[in-house]
Amino acid sequence: MRLDGKIVLITGASRGIGRASALALAREGAHIVAAARTAPDLARVVGEVEALGRKALAVPTDVTDSDAVAACVGRAIVAFGRIDILVNNAGVGGYRPFLEWSEADYDRIMATNAKSSWLFCRAVIPHMRAQKGGHIINVASVAGLSGYPSEAIYCMSKSAQVALSQALDREFYQENIKVSLVCPGGVETFFALGDGRTAGEDKLRGFSTAEDVAEAVVLAALPHARSRIVNIVMRPMNEMT
Ligand SMILES: NC(=O)c1ccc[n+]([C@@H]2O[C@H](COP(=O)([O-])OP(=O)(O)OC[C@H]3O[C@@H](n4cnc5c(N)ncnc54)[C@H](OP(=O)(O)O)[C@@H]3O)[C@@H](O)[C@H]2O)c1
Repeated sequence: MRLDGKIVLITGASRGIGRASALALAREGAHIVAAARTAPDLARVVGEVEALGRKALAVPTDVTDSDAVAACVGRAIVAFGRIDILVNNAGVGGYRPFLEWSEADYDRIMATNAKSSWLFCRAVIPHMRAQKGGHIINVASVAGLSGYPSEAIYCMSKSAQVALSQALDREFYQENIKVSLVCPGGVETFFALGDGRTAGEDKLRGFSTAEDVAEAVVLAALPHARSRIVNIVMRPMNEMT
């Protein structure tokens, strides 16, 4: 196992890419701190991680709330004493013409996707510094690398995550804190159904799976002694999206 005993804090772990990543990291030997808002879903993921023989802790957290983020990181440190890997994965989006998005939508999407990543990095980096190393993996999107119609605010939030990752990579790699981006295209999750799509529909056929993205998260997280993975860009086989 390539991540034996590593402590991973992962946001948005209750379903989709976050859940799949938690399980893939646990299969590599990591113990998991699972954060999201929905406690019953987190409890299920904790059970799945424990069934793999790893330790797991559910921390119900709204990632947009700075006090809740600080409390989540605090609980992880009390339980495990360190955080080796932080995966900023929680996110929301949607597909609507530009003029139909409200200011409240803007605040919610920017807070969930961009601000939350900043809040978690700010809370976790002091611990990584003290332990002389760590790894941050930000799950952004191809929508953070170029613009897509009907997704302007989402694209803004994801490009903020890209910029945050690039800045932190350059600021912290000499302190042995690696910062990686994983940028998926369309992935068949609850998130991707947000356009009035339904599961199993043609439009989703050829999308990546949550497990595909989880493998990219594991690859980014592996402790390569002489390299750091800066960005993994994924495209679904269905390029209609
Ligand atoms: N699916 C795609 O096509 C796609 C493509 C590229 C990138 N991504 C990115 O991948 C990440 C995961 O998305 P997914 O596809 O797995 O979507 P998903 O199935 O909808 O999962 C989203 C996760 O984020 C959590 N979350 C949302 N708001 C939160 C909040 N305020 N506080 C705490 N947790 C919150 C949700 O948990 P609770 O609701 O329980 O809080 C859930 O665990 C997102 O950052 C998304 O932007 C997705």
